[in-house]
Amino acid sequence: MRGAPGGGHCPPIALIDITTYLEERGARVDSYLDTVLPAASHAHGRLYEAVRYSIFAGGKRFRPALCIASCEAFGGLTEAALPAAAALELIHVSSLIHDDLPCMDDSDLRRGRPSCHRAFAESLAVLAGDWLLCFPFALVAEAGESAGVESARTLRLVRELAEAVCRAGIVEGQAEDLDAEARHISFEALRALHARKTGSLIRAAARCGLIAAGVPLDDVVRFAAYAEPLGLAFQIADDILDVVSDESTLGKPVGADDANQKSTYVSCLGLEGAQEMAARVAVDAHRELDALPDWVDTRVLRALVDFVVDRRS
Ligand code: IPE
Ligand code: IPE
Ligand code: MG
Ligand code: MG
Ligand code: MG
Repeated sequence: MRGAPGGGHCPPIALIDITTYLEERGARVDSYLDTVLPAASHAHGRLYEAVRYSIFAGGKRFRPALCIASCEAFGGLTEAALPAAAALELIHVSSLIHDDLPCMDDSDLRRGRPSCHRAFAESLAVLAGDWLLCFPFALVAEAGESAGVESARTLRLVRELAEAVCRAGIVEGQAEDLDAEARHISFEALRALHARKTGSLIRAAARCGLIAAGVPLDDVVRFAAYAEPLGLAFQIADDILDVVSDESTLGKPVGADDANQKSTYVSCLGLEGAQEMAARVAVDAHRELDALPDWVDTRVLRALVDFVVDRRS
């Protein structure tokens, strides 16, 4: 980590073209993923075909971009964040494959094409999701070893990624999401559900970026606090898009939450209430960024916060 001199001389946020940033960093993550994923011509070709089909189907690459942007903001190099950034996308895609299964949200469309279980067999989608959930840990451990990363740092990456899935993570959140179908839950319970099913991996993305940047491990949780409201804003925006967007823009069905009787910010607060809440939570994220030391270059992180609430897909 290096202290960036000249803090406070940031150009206006509008000058950061966040779409270009997402595309550029996304492309770097994609080429990294392409080198580390087994080829579809492998002996278990059909499995890796399903894995690659789901990974290389578009997607915003938001979590990898947040990880990289967090690393860069704290003075780290883009390359240092690549293994964790790739790991985050693999875990995310695993969660999407399982989320779309008939026993979960029963969704036939993902990223503008048939969901994994529709394009392949349901059994293969389960297995592709399993593979994508475990491989990231091998990837991060192996990449850390070959780059000579301090083992305490690699261990911390592994822990952050694992926690995002299990304790207070995606799996608990998804279980709560299913349990909250067709019944009223309190606003506090909904907030906690969203923080687990979606916020947990976004929190891990920021923390992993800081770990990769070389931030002292004891400071990681405190400095990455901006990810908490950011993660919540991300799922509130997802709930809103399910109501206001269209299928071709979103690449997944619209109106699915209503059809599945999901508990969402829209079902709980109404559309306008959810929009107001998203804006309010984005302000909280900016406030957390304001509190960071002057040498942290928060410009891209701020643009990512705005992107999350303004996005169209
Ligand atoms: C969708 O995530 C699922 C949620 C956790 C809300 P994204 O909106 O990041 O989906 P992709 O990766 O761009 O397809
Ligand atoms: C899913 O939330 C969160 C995950 C952990 C995958 P949603 O069920 O709202 O995600 P979409 O709308 O299908 O992408
Ligand atoms: Mg779901
Ligand atoms: Mg879903
Ligand atoms: Mg959704």
